[in-house]
Amino acid sequence: MLVTLNELLDQALAKKCAIPAFNVFGYEDAKAVIDAAEELRAPVILATNKVAIHHMPIDVIGAMLGKMAKKASVPVVVHLDHGQDYETVAKAIAAGYSSVMYDGSALPFEENVKNTKDVVKLGHGFGVSVEGEIGSVGYSDATQNHGRLTDPQEAKEFAERTGVDALAVAVGTTHRMETQSASVDYPLIETIQGLVRQPLVMHGSTGLPDKALRQISQMHFCKVNIGTAIRMRFGHSLRKAMQEKPDVFDRLELIKEPMREVKEEAINKMKLLQANLMN
Ligand code: G3H
Ligand code: ZN
Repeated sequence: MLVTLNELLDQALAKKCAIPAFNVFGYEDAKAVIDAAEELRAPVILATNKVAIHHMPIDVIGAMLGKMAKKASVPVVVHLDHGQDYETVAKAIAAGYSSVMYDGSALPFEENVKNTKDVVKLGHGFGVSVEGEIGSVGYSDATQNHGRLTDPQEAKEFAERTGVDALAVAVGTTHRMETQSASVDYPLIETIQGLVRQPLVMHGSTGLPDKALRQISQMHFCKVNIGTAIRMRFGHSLRKAMQEKPDVFDRLELIKEPMREVKEEAINKMKLLQANLMN
């Protein structure tokens, strides 16, 4: 069933677990993630970032994911990840997304507050959950933004003034890491969660070791974003299948093992986050 992020957050906080938001790029990985959630009887979030909506128009991918979510036997959130502007968020809402992120983290504080407030007003008007970001989770690619840790007082003020449903904070992770070698600043998390009422969101979670995933899921983090981990499983598995079956050209045949591996990876992460406690 299609649900909003808000419908899951209170329970995730109460049960001290987190819901994974997996970045998906099409039918195959979305299907594998839903299969994983159904096997564990756990809720899940399908997230599409700017690369995904550049590849497939937002109204097309939104309609497809919305239909898949409605058919699923577990709660599924369809979420816009790192929405860059008001217009993209509005398009996502029109396309049936049940949750959106507005990412103004690279902007000056006041501008981020103003833009996020506008998006909250829009989203809540349509019953859609809204995530904002304060501080900035950087990228491992040196050409991109390096990030900035969240200032706890800024987080408090941002959360109160914008009224976001969930708040992404920068506490040590970096987007697109290919190894689980990030370390998070636990004292910083403790300070932030003592000041902010709303559930927190962890970005760049591919880089977190298993132990840290379990630990943050028991803290104030209710949504944990994982992208690169499943993209790597899909891509590496597809390459292997093509090497092992050089005569096969039918992509439906080649895609079977990558889908199985994405499902396996999703189950592994969901268990670490204890998302299955929510059933
Ligand atoms: O918003 C998406 C996530 O933060 C994914 O990050 O690809 O490093 O796991 P990741
Ligand atoms: Zn992110």
